Order: sequence, then C-alpha cells, then structure tokens
Amino acid sequence: MIGVFDSGLGGLSVLAALVEALPQADFTYYADTAHVPYGNKSEAQIQRRVLAIGEYLANEGCGLLVVACNTATAAAVQALRTAHPGVPVVGVEPGIKPAAQSTKSGRIAVLTTEATAGSQRLKHLIRDHAGPVEVFVEPCPGWATHVEMLQLDAPALAADVRARIEPLLDRGVDRIVLGCTHYSFLAPLLLQVVGTRAQLVDVAAAVARQTRRLAADLAHGSGRLHLQASAHPERLHAALPRLHLAHIAARIRQL
Ligand code: DGL
Repeated sequence: MIGVFDSGLGGLSVLAALVEALPQADFTYYADTAHVPYGNKSEAQIQRRVLAIGEYLANEGCGLLVVACNTATAAAVQALRTAHPGVPVVGVEPGIKPAAQSTKSGRIAVLTTEATAGSQRLKHLIRDHAGPVEVFVEPCPGWATHVEMLQLDAPALAADVRARIEPLLDRGVDRIVLGCTHYSFLAPLLLQVVGTRAQLVDVAAAVARQTRRLAADLAHGSGRLHLQASAHPERLHAALPRLHLAHIAARIRQL
C-alpha cells in the first residue's frame, strides 16, 4: 500500500496523478484536516505533524510514502526519511527546474504558502536549479483555506489572485509554478487572469512518475483507495466531485 498525505485536500491533486500512473496500486490518503493549514505554522510544528502521520501510515503497512504537500516536504521530508530509513519517501517540491528550463523571458514566479516561501529548501532549490533565470517568490496566504472550504471562485479570492498575478505578468514572468498542491485546484481561476501570457507549471505528473519508479511490487495491488482525515473525514469524500475527482471515488474501499 502507498501512503499519500497532505494538510487537507490539496494532495488529492497529486493522488489523481498517482492513480493514473499506478492504476493497480492500493493507496491510502490521509488529510490532516485537524491541523490545516500548514502554511502559517512553524517548521517545528509541521515536522511534528509529518512525523506523527508518517508513523501512523508506516504502522498501517504503507511501504512507500508520498508527501503530497510542498510545505510539509520543505519542513520535514528529511526528518521523515531519517525516521523511516526502510521506507522510500517521495516529496513534492515546486517545479523550479522545468520552469527555468522552459522560460523564454528568463523570468518565472513560484506561488507558495508562507512557510514554503521562507524555507531554506526553496532557497536551495532556486540556487541549484534556476541558473540565470530570475525567480519571483509569491506567498499566497489564505488560498489553501479557500480550497479547503471549496470556495474555488469566491470573489475575495478572485480579487486576490488578480492582485498577485497581474504584477508578475507585468514584470515579464512567463512561467508560474504552482508551489502548493492546493493551488492545482485554482488553475481555472488562475488561467482567467493569466490567459496566454504565461504557462502554469504543476509537478503532479512528475511526482507520479517518480513514485512509479520506486513502487516496485506496490504497483501491483487491487486498485483500492482508502481516504482518512484527522477531522471531518466525510468532507473529504464529499469534496471529490466538487474537485472533479468523482472518478477516484469509485476506487474507495476499506483496505
Ligand atoms: N498543500 C500544501 C502545500 O503543498 C499546503 C497548504 C497548507 O496547508 O497551507 O504546500
């Protein structure tokens, strides 16, 4: 079984890519909805949650863990790997590299939570992979919470999206990296502002390919899915059709 987790609904965007890449694998998805959002928490707080969830999923029998959250990866992927040396761990990091390799203008932006924006890991990612490309880091407080509340086109959110994205486009940014898994669900709203002036960069498919490389025997299960949450698990089930993931609901069975 492959364990996938996030602070809430955002990691479902990664789960969708995982299910497509590994249709026979068994997945358990854990949403830490009692502690969402992670983006306004300290590194130590996020580490504590990630280690607790990792422990829980490993005890449940997960042979591979996918940290379907940029914020949790930045704060705690190293600690998680140290705690479970026998379990492969796949993290999710903003697609700085593909954006920097494909930009024509030499300017890219990355949209993240506040915690990711302030993390050493993002600084290192930019230092190692952006080369001469100019990177604008844009923290987007509140966006993940709108997704949690399934307010994907709330007027206040739409106004904030416009206020943050337009100045980036005016500076010549032509690649916008979705550096938080929740933001994949805001792509339609973002595209209303971006139009053809820039491309959105999402790493979910790349994360799924990396997971498939490491999955070995875990790729061959019964194609089942178990959804769990630290608070209000019923909301997780109800969110699937709203997030256009009704096809995933068909796989849900207790493992
Ligand atoms: N989905 C998470 C990420 O990828 C964080 C959202 C949050 O809990 O603040 O960064």
